[in-house]
Order: sequence, then C-alpha cells, then structure tokens
Amino acid sequence: MSIENDFALISDFDKNYCLQVFAPLPVAFTKGKGSYLYDTEGNKYLDMIGGIAVNSLGHGNPKLVGAISKQARNLIHCSNYYYIPQRSELAYRLCRASFADKAFFCNSGAEANEAALKIARGYFHYKGEDKYEIITAEKSFHGRTFGTMTATGQEKFSKPFAPVVPGFKYVPFNDIDAVKAAVGPHTAAIMLELIQGESGVNPADAEYIQAVKKLCTEKGILLIIDEVQTGVGRTGKMFCYQNYGITPDIMTLAKGLGGGVPIGAMLCTDEVAKGFQVGDHGSTFGGNPLACAAGIAVMEYFGEANLLDNVNLVSAALFEKLNKLKSKYGCIKAVRGMGLLIGIEFDETVIASGLREELFRNGFLVSAIGKSVIRIAPPLIITKAQALSFVRALDSILSTRMGGKPNPILNAFKNIGRKETPAMKALVEEKPAEETKPAALPEHEDELE
Ligand SMILES: Cc1ncc(COP(=O)(O)O)c(C=O)c1O
Repeated sequence: MSIENDFALISDFDKNYCLQVFAPLPVAFTKGKGSYLYDTEGNKYLDMIGGIAVNSLGHGNPKLVGAISKQARNLIHCSNYYYIPQRSELAYRLCRASFADKAFFCNSGAEANEAALKIARGYFHYKGEDKYEIITAEKSFHGRTFGTMTATGQEKFSKPFAPVVPGFKYVPFNDIDAVKAAVGPHTAAIMLELIQGESGVNPADAEYIQAVKKLCTEKGILLIIDEVQTGVGRTGKMFCYQNYGITPDIMTLAKGLGGGVPIGAMLCTDEVAKGFQVGDHGSTFGGNPLACAAGIAVMEYFGEANLLDNVNLVSAALFEKLNKLKSKYGCIKAVRGMGLLIGIEFDETVIASGLREELFRNGFLVSAIGKSVIRIAPPLIITKAQALSFVRALDSILSTRMGGKPNPILNAFKNIGRKETPAMKALVEEKPAEETKPAALPEHEDELE
C-alpha cells in the first residue's frame, strides 16, 4: 500500500505527524512535467512558483534526471575525506561563470549564508583585525539557522528564539546614508540581497549597490551578496550582481543551483578564502557527488538550451502584460522584480492569500507574501505562451472582482495532535507473512575471504 494517491490520508498523516510549521494548500503533487505539476487526482497546474525559485529546469527535465540517475547508479555519497570529481567540476564551472576563485558546497541557502558569515569573521581574525560586525538590511531574509535568522532584518523570525547572535546591525534598504552611519571600526561585512524576495520582491537601486561597493572598498569591508533566490539565471543574467555593475567578495547560492536537488554554495575570492583554514568549516553532505552532478547538469543546460535568452524573452512579455493589467485594475499598485522573479503588489482591496487560492483553484500556483504581494518565480524553461496564460487567468479573476477573502478550507490545516487511524496503521503493520522474514543480503562479488 502507498499513500501517494490518497490525499485524505496524506493530509491526515501530515496533520498528525509532521510538525505544523507550514500552512499548505489542500493539495499534494505526485508528478511534474516541464512547467506543469499534477496532483493526486490527476489535476494539472501551471507552476508559476517553481518550488520557490528552485525548479529552474522545470519538472522531469531529461538532462537533470539523466545526470542524477547516472550518478546515483555510480556513487551517491562519499565523504569529504576524499576528492570528489563532481565537486571539483562544479566549483570550476561556478568560478568560471562568476567573480569567484573558490567554492564551498553545502545543502541549503541558510548553510551557504552561515559559511559566508563565518568566513567574513574568520578573514579578519586571521588578519589580526578586530572586525566582526555584520551589517544587513531591514526586511532582508537570509535563513532560519541562528546566524542567518539573526542576519535576517525582520524581528518576527527571531523574536521567539532570543537571544540572537551578537555582532549584527540593521539598516533600511536602499539608503546609503544609513549604511555609512552604521559602519564603524569593527565592521567586517555588509550582507545584502539584490532583490529582497521574501519581503515582497523589492529590488535594490543600482546607485545604492554601487555606493555600498565603493564604501566597502574604501573601508576594507567585505561585501556579501546573498543570491540564494536570485542566482543561477533567475534574473536574466547568470548571477544578479552582473545586472549591477559590481562584484562582491562573497556570494551565496542554493535554490536553483540543483534544479530541485538540495545544494548550497558559498563562493569567494582567493583573498577572502584565507578566512577558512583546514578544519574551520565543513559539512557531511555538502559537495556530495549526487548534488554536484545535479549542479553540473543545471549549469550545462544553460548553454545547451539558451536558457538566459528564454528568461529574458518571457520576462519582457510578462512585465509588458502585467503592467497592462496594472493600468486596467486600480487594485494593482506595483509590478516589480527582474527576469523571472516578479512581485505584483495589490492595494487593501485584494488579500494576497485569497488571490493565491483563487489562482490555485484555476490551476495556477503562485506564492503570497504578506497581505499584499503575489510572487511568481516559474521554472526558467517556461514558454511565453504558458506564462501569458497565467496573466489571462489573473485578468479574468480580477475582472470578476475577486474580493480576496481567504479560503476557509485553509483553517482545516491545524495541528491537531497525534492520531493513528486504522488506515495509517495498515501502512506500516499489514505486511504479508513472507515479507516479515529478513531479506537475504545481496551477494558481493569482491568480499574479503
Ligand atoms: C535570499 C535568501 N537567502 C537565504 C534563504 C534560505 O534558504 P534555505 O531555505 O535553502 O535555507 C532564502 C530562502 O528563501 C532566501 O530567499
């Protein structure tokens, strides 16, 4: 028995046995192809959020699936006690495509940012300078670990878990005078997103970023750019910093790099690399052959499929049509972002979560940020026709003057404690008698005598 096609059982298990930190829509996906996802009932949805900017090559991409299948057959994991060919190759490809000289691999965006924060402090420690303070922006998002939660300039993420890590300062975004005022003798680094994705898709101004870079150079401060969401083609260039005419000292990646296989990376210059000596940092899983094979396949696919051209083509069409909707409907306050990371901000007459549910019921998946922003971050392989079908759906929903009331069905997703139904028990307990016998171990051709 498998629960895969039984949504009632899936949600029952979830409510009873998974920690209730998410508020999922009432759906489970079991298959994906290209830009589409299919639920347990076989319903088809256009994936305009791509696993939150993760499924860069869409779903079931033959190149990515082929690469990880082949790698899984050869070797899934081996430790960092040894050289790993895929890790070496991915590091080379990423450094070649960016400002960086060295790469460190991990498993998520938060871990990549932890590595960035640590190496920035380590750099000044080994230089013998008393610099440890990190300046980050208000409304930023850098992750959920203690270091990255502290770096995140939104108190709501860290308040229940105080005290946070010492040595952080926060400044308003896009305000160079505030950064200048915050810099002091102990400032080690300034850490910024170029588009604040998690607080409503707010792009940095080019003059601001260029002025921050200049300040960093003048004062000997490291510039950390968090490209966990914006990196790997999302904004129409391989890395978002390339849209700004600057180079950082440290850059972090995750999300789109593995096309869905968990991977994170912290990239830096040779100079900054002095901040970590052997044993200073590490990861059991980071840089494993499977995840790095996925990263290589994603990087290769950009060249083979002219993916950046597609991002720019679809992006231009989306911005044009969404701005037309903005002129048509007074409730749209702004359309902003870059490439295929776009936020649509509404006034108070539209509640973003309600609109997200209405789109979902019409077969379109997006995310809602706060009360007023709908974010789209579709697979980078999405076609113009597919993307414009989303704009038409939005148009039609707005034209029927969707009130924006959240769907009450969401309230059913509450933590209700531990419950074990007969159907749940059957999953683990009802085994035919012969299956309970221990399986014979596979024979090894080369076992030691
Ligand atoms: C800019 C940014 N940094 C860091 C993170 C954290 O990444 P992860 O959830 O993989 O730890 C996110 C996740 O949304 C992000 O958008």
